[in-house]
Amino acid sequence: MQENLSVNQEGHLCVGGADTTTLASRYGTPLYVMDEGRIRQNCRRLKQSIEHFYENGGMVLYASKAFSCKEIYRIVKEEGLGVDVVSGGELYTALAAGFPAEHIYFHGNNKTPAELAMALENHVGHIVADNLYELETLSSLAASSNTVMPVLLRIKPGIDAHTHDFIRTGQIDSKFGFALETGEAEEAFKKALSLPGIQLTGIHCHIGSQIFDIEPFEHAAQVMLQFAQDMYRRSGFMIQELNLGGGFGICYLPSDDPTALEKYMERVAEVVKRFCEDKAIPIPHICIEPGRSIVGDAGVTLYTVGTVKQIPGIRTYVSVDGGMTDNPRYILYGSDYEIVCANKADQTKDSIVTVAGRCCESGDLLQENTPLQQTAPGDILAVLCTGAYNYSMASNYNRVPRPAVVMVKDGVDRLIVRRESYDDLLRNDI
Ligand code: LLP
Repeated sequence: MQENLSVNQEGHLCVGGADTTTLASRYGTPLYVMDEGRIRQNCRRLKQSIEHFYENGGMVLYASKAFSCKEIYRIVKEEGLGVDVVSGGELYTALAAGFPAEHIYFHGNNKTPAELAMALENHVGHIVADNLYELETLSSLAASSNTVMPVLLRIKPGIDAHTHDFIRTGQIDSKFGFALETGEAEEAFKKALSLPGIQLTGIHCHIGSQIFDIEPFEHAAQVMLQFAQDMYRRSGFMIQELNLGGGFGICYLPSDDPTALEKYMERVAEVVKRFCEDKAIPIPHICIEPGRSIVGDAGVTLYTVGTVKQIPGIRTYVSVDGGMTDNPRYILYGSDYEIVCANKADQTKDSIVTVAGRCCESGDLLQENTPLQQTAPGDILAVLCTGAYNYSMASNYNRVPRPAVVMVKDGVDRLIVRRESYDDLLRNDI
């Protein structure tokens, strides 16, 4: 078990020093629990890895699609990180939380003119431009409001990262960014240099998510720098900023063996410095954009067990009061999770069950054939490592209200997102 989880004398699972069964009775279930200590520790490890291995300067941008609500922007601001937002909604939330606009990077493959205007009005630090239409729209909006927007170009480096197809983004057949192979990236580079209202500062790539190996990241850095050098030769303009995206894999199961967070920067910094020295080009400022590796292992979701249905010779379904509405990752990607019976955490997992959700959908499962303690109605189940892409991907399918989010720090809990009520569900109905 990871360091921020423990089992107390009553045999209950604790997160960040708080008894999960107490949290379940205090706030109800389903419940997302986030451990502030773990989030801050992850932020610091990543930030220090840049300071330690890349003396040329860099910044960690938290990819807030992983988990977005006002409190997380306050925490990462205190930790001295920037943020990546990918929609007007994430931008609005960050600004509402008092996050400094100059440290916001605005992403997206199809930002609307209204979102671009919102970014300009609020003096967002950088826009990561995805396509020529966006560059032109941004240029005319910026020029008409007499502003100049710092811009990075999102490049597809053509790297095939070994992860789920849906979360691979660096290859040529991707909806994101400018392709190198076709000359599109070069065209965009030249266009960005010539358009009014746009100040080209650098280039960006993101090769995918939940990646365990470092080689694809090293390879991506090399490809990006080669492009930067080619453009320098051809246009005379050298990028100041190289944003290498996120995607660092985390441990969902005890058998997962991700590389230590620090290793990424250690190896990539080496590649970047060596390349720049060899080619005698200026060393750029580096940004990385981790999402999952900041919040993923800080989260646990708690559920109450309802029916336990044994189908002899087939399997046992343990049904809980949440499911695909609060965690769609199993139904989408077949993602692995470890599940623990929170009120029997000191007991051996001597049964194999399928944990099912409550939606009217056969695929609404949280995990199939997973080891679990003997469970009965009323038990509390904890799904571990749900801090990333769970709350942020939750839905109201079947008109199920979204759960509350509780933050725990050194054993003390506080509510950071209220549970949706039935009235909330009707809020926009006419
Ligand atoms: N930067 C960009 C441009 C991205 O598109 C992403 C993730 C990140 C950074 C952060 O990646 P991370 O460090 O969190 O891996 N819903 C999927 C993950 C989609 C990731 C989308 N982009 C899942 O649940 O696995």
